[in-house]
Amino acid sequence: MSKAISVVVIGRSLNQQERTRLRSSSQTPLAIVAELPNAPQVLDELNRLRPQAAIVLLNGDLNHSFQLVERIHQELPDTAVICSSEDNSPDVILKSFRSGATEFLRQPLVESEIASVFAKIEQAVVRPEESHLGRVIALYSSKGGCGTTFVTANLAASLARLTRKRACVVDLNLQAGDQPLYMGLEPNYSIHDIVRNFDRLDDQLLASYLTQRSKYLALLAAPTEIGKDEDVKVEHVTRAIALLRAQADFVVIDPPRVLNELTISALDAADDLILLLTLDIPAIRSAKRALDIFTRLGYDRSRIKVVINRYAKTPEFDLKQVEKVLETQVFATIANDYQAAIASINVGEPLVLSKNQSRVIHDFNHLASKLTGIRPHSEPPPPPGPPRTGWTSIFGGRR
Ligand SMILES: Nc1ncnc2c1ncn2[C@@H]1O[C@H](COP(=O)(O)OP(=O)(O)OP(=O)(O)O)[C@@H](O)[C@H]1O
Ligand SMILES: [Mg+2]
Repeated sequence: MSKAISVVVIGRSLNQQERTRLRSSSQTPLAIVAELPNAPQVLDELNRLRPQAAIVLLNGDLNHSFQLVERIHQELPDTAVICSSEDNSPDVILKSFRSGATEFLRQPLVESEIASVFAKIEQAVVRPEESHLGRVIALYSSKGGCGTTFVTANLAASLARLTRKRACVVDLNLQAGDQPLYMGLEPNYSIHDIVRNFDRLDDQLLASYLTQRSKYLALLAAPTEIGKDEDVKVEHVTRAIALLRAQADFVVIDPPRVLNELTISALDAADDLILLLTLDIPAIRSAKRALDIFTRLGYDRSRIKVVINRYAKTPEFDLKQVEKVLETQVFATIANDYQAAIASINVGEPLVLSKNQSRVIHDFNHLASKLTGIRPHSEPPPPPGPPRTGWTSIFGGRR
């Protein structure tokens, strides 16, 4: 990975001389990743690019520029803001710092000042790949329709909400990735952009290919165009996961069912492998087979967590029997609530982020909590009371 500090310039484009001076004066290499006008979309672009530094050229309406500085400071706390102006009166410098700038550069740019400003930023910059390793969680189910996509989206949302840390879903269903539907997103970029720009891929570029659902929840989408899936190879997936791990706290992978090289490369990278099944004979048999394959692949049993989706107590299967067949303990269960699940998919909002009262939400919070060791904010909903009959079942308060 390049050690350059990524910089976005806002206000106007730099001229060639300014650009050269910036680059040559800083001891640390600078990657000027974008030059943007101070327009309404600028914050969206910054959120997408997540630069380590933003130079705001104070021109035009000064108050407007200071408002922008304030918003960058609030929304992108990891981005150092540098104000720059020809007017270096105490008033302008003071207002810059009050708005949240950490540095000020005079214009025309002075080499020694650039050097000292970026030396300070270099000290403060958080270098994700060196300082941080997120946790990779791969879902897997060898039988279709067990809810892998639904569980991935909701688990990621639940982890993000519980920990207030960044979770990124990776959709490896390359032919027909449904995650955008489940997460309510319309991606402009996908894993195919990683393939196209693999030679110059670094964490900044990768970050620009993510689709943000919120500050803490993002998606690396499957290719949006038909026929692009074949270009995606193991090296792309491995590199993408490694870079994502460096910038997200949780990387939650929705792989395809087929255990090909690509799927295995994703499972290999996982710290936790959630084997998902439903309580029916075909799913239990598939899970048993998957566990055998994981053993042959040399996966440590402690990495594998068996989770039962669409769980409802039935006389045919009790969990103890399933544990006996699989020779593994069940790590968690997620209740069956088709109405709630399908409603959330139809509106494109992960169920755990909705106001629904479904038991499923509690179960996801419990799963996220068990994985992270962090207690959920809310206690489980009270057990359902006796079935309502007659008038109460019609007017009984449920909306
Ligand atoms: N806990 C649940 N309760 C009720 N319905 C659920 C639950 N989890 C998933 N479903 C429903 O199951 C269906 C299949 O879910 P999903 O698409 O996530 O499965 P999948 O395993 O990803 O399928 P595929 O193999 O096609 O990729 C969806 O309609 C979803 O609403
Ligand atoms: Mg799926």
